Amino acid sequence: MQKCCVITGASSGLGRELALQYAAQGWQVVAIARSMERLAQLCQQSPLIQSLVVDLTDEHAVAQSAVLINAMLPSVDLIILNAGSCEYVEADNFDLGAFERTFAVNFFAVVAAVKFWLPLLKKTGKAQLAIVSSLAWLFPFTRAEAYGASKAALSYFTDSLRLDLTGQGIQVCLIEPGFVDTPLTRKNDFAMPFLLSVADAAKRVRVAIADGKLRCRFPLRLSLSLQLLNLLPYGFRQKLAAGLKP
Ligand SMILES: NC(=O)c1ccc[n+]([C@@H]2O[C@H](COP(=O)([O-])OP(=O)(O)OC[C@H]3O[C@@H](n4cnc5c(N)ncnc54)[C@H](OP(=O)(O)O)[C@@H]3O)[C@@H](O)[C@H]2O)c1
Repeated sequence: MQKCCVITGASSGLGRELALQYAAQGWQVVAIARSMERLAQLCQQSPLIQSLVVDLTDEHAVAQSAVLINAMLPSVDLIILNAGSCEYVEADNFDLGAFERTFAVNFFAVVAAVKFWLPLLKKTGKAQLAIVSSLAWLFPFTRAEAYGASKAALSYFTDSLRLDLTGQGIQVCLIEPGFVDTPLTRKNDFAMPFLLSVADAAKRVRVAIADGKLRCRFPLRLSLSLQLLNLLPYGFRQKLAAGLKP
């Protein structure tokens, strides 16, 4: 039977590539984002991709979209909550709006999607929910107070959610990528070690989900490096982080 998935943040970057790769594997895909134009372009790439324009920071729109998704797909095997944004902030004059916008899409939108879309997942024991966080929260990066904190919250949320969904027939996979070449990172003005192509990153995500992994951190070299840095004495680690400031 044909598999079906819902992917958020599918108008660009990792989400777009995931939509294309799942469709190429024969999955029916509902691709979600705000940009109608970019979603329409995506749908032209495959007859298996349908789109839904939703601002995920609008709780009512997320609730209403559950009804639409239910009508678009015969059943839902997989939901990938990938939409996100990154805004850097300046500590000498915090833009509170940047914190609110970042948490709205990176954290609260995920909570809303889980609340309203989880009932759509097939309760077969094989249904899957994948949440895209980041490796960024493992190490204090300069100007990343909003982004890193939102992803730390998201990773904790996902691990906690997995516990509470135990026994409900839904596998939860936490995705924590390193640097991936997408529009989000193209605005970065610093070196991005072990930068991956979006095709490579999407394939790693797909394989981890297919293998039923609890968590997928990649690339291994960056993930291990950041985890090793966390074993260092706290003060030394902080000095290293300060050394990365421009
Ligand atoms: N690229 C990296 O190096 C990297 C590393 C670690 C983690 N990540 C995470 O991977 C995910 C995808 O990032 P990306 O690099 O592919 O970024 P991207 O190219 O900027 O794509 C972000 C996607 O999120 C959607 N989006 C943003 N705000 C939204 C909203 N309010 N409602 C609905 N959709 C919204 C955007 O579509 P619209 O603008 O059309 O709404 C777009 O499709 C993010 O969660 C990011 O934090 C990325």
